[in-house]
Amino acid sequence: MTSLQWGGRFSAPPDAALLAFGSSLADDLVLAPFDVRTSQAHVDALAGGSIVDAPTAAALHDALQTVATEIEDGRFAEFARGSGAEDIHGAIDARVRELQPQAGASLHAGRSRNDQVATTLALYAHDRARTGAARTQSIARHLLARAAEELNEGTLLAATTHMQPAQPVLLAFWLQAAAEPFVRAAHRFAAAAEFALHSCPLGSGAVAGSTLPLDRQAACKRLEFSQPSRNAMDAIGTRDVVLDVANACVRALADASRVSAEIVLWATPGFGYVRLGDASSTGSSLMPQKRNPDIFELVRGCASEVAGLYVGAVSSTIGLPLSYHRDLQETKKLALGACERTLAALDAFERALRDTSFERDAMRARAATGYTIATDVADALIAAGVNARDAHTLVGAVVRAAEDAGRALDEHDLLELANEAGLKKLNAPLDAAASVAAKKTSGSTSSDAVRAGLASLAAELETI
Ligand code: ARG
Repeated sequence: MTSLQWGGRFSAPPDAALLAFGSSLADDLVLAPFDVRTSQAHVDALAGGSIVDAPTAAALHDALQTVATEIEDGRFAEFARGSGAEDIHGAIDARVRELQPQAGASLHAGRSRNDQVATTLALYAHDRARTGAARTQSIARHLLARAAEELNEGTLLAATTHMQPAQPVLLAFWLQAAAEPFVRAAHRFAAAAEFALHSCPLGSGAVAGSTLPLDRQAACKRLEFSQPSRNAMDAIGTRDVVLDVANACVRALADASRVSAEIVLWATPGFGYVRLGDASSTGSSLMPQKRNPDIFELVRGCASEVAGLYVGAVSSTIGLPLSYHRDLQETKKLALGACERTLAALDAFERALRDTSFERDAMRARAATGYTIATDVADALIAAGVNARDAHTLVGAVVRAAEDAGRALDEHDLLELANEAGLKKLNAPLDAAASVAAKKTSGSTSSDAVRAGLASLAAELETI
């Protein structure tokens, strides 16, 4: 029995090197459990249309169940590699034919690998998108828990823009800012998961549908799609479902890369804002003192890698005429790579994050340095009736003088500013805690606003 699913019309076998070049088996092993499900649904479609009789359907289901078990316990990969099949679809078909020679010969009736790949990819996309949603939700939950802890502690931090000291904030506010994108990422994954099961390609055949009365509804129902696809040519030619998940992947990893970059910086002696745990740090083979943030660096690097895979996947569809082209095998490989790498990186990111602790005193000590309260002082002038331009200039001059004298802003500066503005006195925060407490807008870093923000985000998270 040949493991190739074609060959009758050729008089000579294919060139072994070219067959190896065209093989996607190594890339699609991860699809194996989903392809079995696709085949089980196809058996339902065959039986529902009386294309195979009940004993044949039962024999096929039996064989597919065996394959499912072999995939689960790891035995199938070895069979697949030794089978000489071009891809996972051929390998599963070969194993079914080996287990049930007679019934197995009917499994592929009315089916093409084109509708099979498209359906299998949709099931894979759904599964990985759900995992992506769960991982990003879990990261967001962890960040929210850490935020609640730091809100309790009242930990202060100098927020930066352009990496320059900007304004004092609560560390809980930074943690909320880190959590928000992961909630958005979870929404994107959840939407991709839902979209993946919108339209079931199975029963589309190679491109034009089938003359066999396949029971498409039965297949659709077993696989829990909303409906059978409306157009066979589109159904077998699109890779939208897996591209959507890959897109959600790159976006989530971009978010993780930004938090990672900040932690890498915070772990330097120049900042000293975090301590990396032993379990998630790495040493140097030469420098005995080293404690390196490799995991966060790798997550950052992975984000670029996955962005490249995603762009590669989309690019491989650009300019393709409608319908199936073998180029789409490359799309699949790149998109699958993006998904697998992302899920591993998100898991590593969360583990490393859980193992990282904050150096609260170091953060607090620097929260008001760099004149981070200057904006509040200018705001106080504005609230007392000075126009915004004048307030900005006046406070800028006071900052310049203090900087020249090598000191922070103090009560004396407030008095001077009051004088210059023709006011009796100026009430403005002079330390980081007072600055944070003085914030009045929703979404700000005041502890009330952060408490409300965290509660709202936590509630939203549970709706995904
Ligand atoms: N390995 C191929 C892929 O992943 C399977 C589909 C082959 N279809 C075909 N018409 N040659 O795209």
